[in-house]
Amino acid sequence: MLKTLDDLLQEGVSGRTVLVRADLNVPLDGDKITDDGRVRAALPGIAKLAEAGARVVVTAHLGRPKGKPDPAFSLAPVAARLGELLGKDVRLAADVVGESAKATVAGLADGQVALLENVRFDPRETSKDDAERGEFARELAALVGAGAAFVSDGFGVVHRKQASVYDVARELPAYAGGLVLSEVEVLRKLTEGEVERPYVVVLGGSKVSDKLAVIEALLPRVDKLLVGGGMCFTFLAAQGHAVGGSLLEEDMIDTCKRLLADAGDKLVLPQDVVVADKFAADANTQTVAADSIPESWLGLDVGPQTVAAFGQVLAEARTVFWNGPMGVFEMAPFAAGTRGVAEAIGKSEAFSVVGGGDSAAAVRQLGLAEESFSHISTGGGASLEFLEGKTLPGIDVLERS
Ligand code: 3PG
Repeated sequence: MLKTLDDLLQEGVSGRTVLVRADLNVPLDGDKITDDGRVRAALPGIAKLAEAGARVVVTAHLGRPKGKPDPAFSLAPVAARLGELLGKDVRLAADVVGESAKATVAGLADGQVALLENVRFDPRETSKDDAERGEFARELAALVGAGAAFVSDGFGVVHRKQASVYDVARELPAYAGGLVLSEVEVLRKLTEGEVERPYVVVLGGSKVSDKLAVIEALLPRVDKLLVGGGMCFTFLAAQGHAVGGSLLEEDMIDTCKRLLADAGDKLVLPQDVVVADKFAADANTQTVAADSIPESWLGLDVGPQTVAAFGQVLAEARTVFWNGPMGVFEMAPFAAGTRGVAEAIGKSEAFSVVGGGDSAAAVRQLGLAEESFSHISTGGGASLEFLEGKTLPGIDVLERS
């Protein structure tokens, strides 16, 4: 039976140490956080525990350091931002389970919050060897000591069978945090039982291969699946069109042919695309029909006719899931497709879910109103794997504990 943070708060946490796994994996430009969405999402759980008098020890990863300390992947900017948002000092330990971590945890008073340094600085965190991960999990549990509890609230990382997500939940009394619970509740609506129709899924991003499992899982359930982003060119190639120098996964063309044949008119492809003569913000650009991409030009965004056509489908929708940008939105000349589709989703009356990762970043970086969407997930890979129907180790372990 899954126990929750509210159950833990009812048991009482004053004077207890609580280890919280959060997903604080934010994009950085140098040491500046460019999107603090995940820090803000982690805040309520940490604040509730601190207010209830717990000694809160947060563990998280940043990027993919290679199992050893690397200042470029330090959580220092995150500790500073978390402290600002919480309105209290957040001490950052200089290591994960070493002398600094031990001293930092020992120095915590009731209601105080500390952050351990990037948990992936220890190679055992991501080890494929159960024994190695188990040993590291026991060190994390020992760090917080007898009587401690574990709150799993890093939804974005629950698809990873890693020590601080999975194994530690077997070493300490484990509870699901509010963020994990709310994400699961929303994503269940999209995968189980009846949804309000039309149910429209919008997929973008660069690779069909990354999205294949989710396409296969959702196609039978949805009314329309709109495809944009780099992945649309493999579908266009499967229809027999030349795609110039656009992204193309040759080995997925046959799969795309099969999907197009099976899906009937459910799969909707772009009618026009913005092409460029190089992959750069100062490239020469033109908008062309999707079946007339000039040789050596590359498609970097969907065009205005596509935005209008997708917009019409979205205006009628009652349930929408969107994952993956429509183009290279980070460069201004190729941002209009993502902006237009995001605005159409925001304007619709639908129950709308933005799958995390790049699409959530696009919403914030393009300055779109977050409130116009019903839910913006903090999980990129995690929300996709949930929709694929996969078992997520970080949730599974909580349900079994
Ligand atoms: C994410 O960014 O999707 C999560 O933080 C997981 O990160 P990872 O893909 O490096 O495991």
